[in-house]
Amino acid sequence: MEPVRLELEDICKNYQQGDTTIHALQHVNLVIEPGEYLSITGQSGSGKSTLMNILGCLDVPSSGYYRIGGQDMGKMTPGELADFRSRTIGFIFQSFCLMPDLNALENVELPLLYQKVPKKERKQRAMEALRRVGLENRMRHRPSQMSGGQQQRTAIARAIASQPSVILADEPTGNLDSESGKAVMEILGELNREGKTVVIITHDDKIAKTTRTNVRICNGIVS
Ligand SMILES: Nc1ncnc2c1ncn2[C@@H]1O[C@H](COP(=O)(O)OP(=O)(O)O)[C@@H](O)[C@H]1O
Ligand SMILES: [Mg+2]
Repeated sequence: MEPVRLELEDICKNYQQGDTTIHALQHVNLVIEPGEYLSITGQSGSGKSTLMNILGCLDVPSSGYYRIGGQDMGKMTPGELADFRSRTIGFIFQSFCLMPDLNALENVELPLLYQKVPKKERKQRAMEALRRVGLENRMRHRPSQMSGGQQQRTAIARAIASQPSVILADEPTGNLDSESGKAVMEILGELNREGKTVVIITHDDKIAKTTRTNVRICNGIVS
């Protein structure tokens, strides 16, 4: 997929909790250029995951506009949105989110299966993605048979197998030792140098320093 610009315009997200309204995002304006390498930092509870969920079309804002490549996400049906998301954005989560009963190859193939990529191409692309992250010798391993770092690299392979133009990573090194964390950050940096937009959500300032741009979020306000 070709590079796209992500544009958040006056985005608010509220959560209702009994009688109180939590203003998780407050009038957020943010433009992420194609090929950008951006970190978003903020303390726990500041709204990072809420922002990532909206950037990734996993959740919808309470108000405001979100455009990807000029297209208004608010105008898409849930089905269109899911399809657009799976072709445009690759996700990496702190907790890896791999299927425990599937091996690495099957995990990486799964999104391609949903995208109806033919079987042979599916396998080829999954194997190439796993080679890319240095896991050519772990394709038949299940998550429980791999280290945390290997599991996260499997998740990266799954994210890139769909050839998305945007990678969204929420605390990608949060559950890793420092060495595995470094390896994961190196792969993300490489993907960015190849032209992908990479957005990393983190509370770790050391990681933020390795990205080209950083924005801070505090009480739902981005600055
Ligand atoms: N589903 C939800 N329902 C109610 N409140 C939520 C929900 N998700 C997040 N929040 C609240 O919104 C704020 C931002 O949360 P979050 O985006 O998860 O922050 P972070 O990822 O920076 O820790 C917090 O006050 C949190 O308690
Ligand atoms: Mg979070």
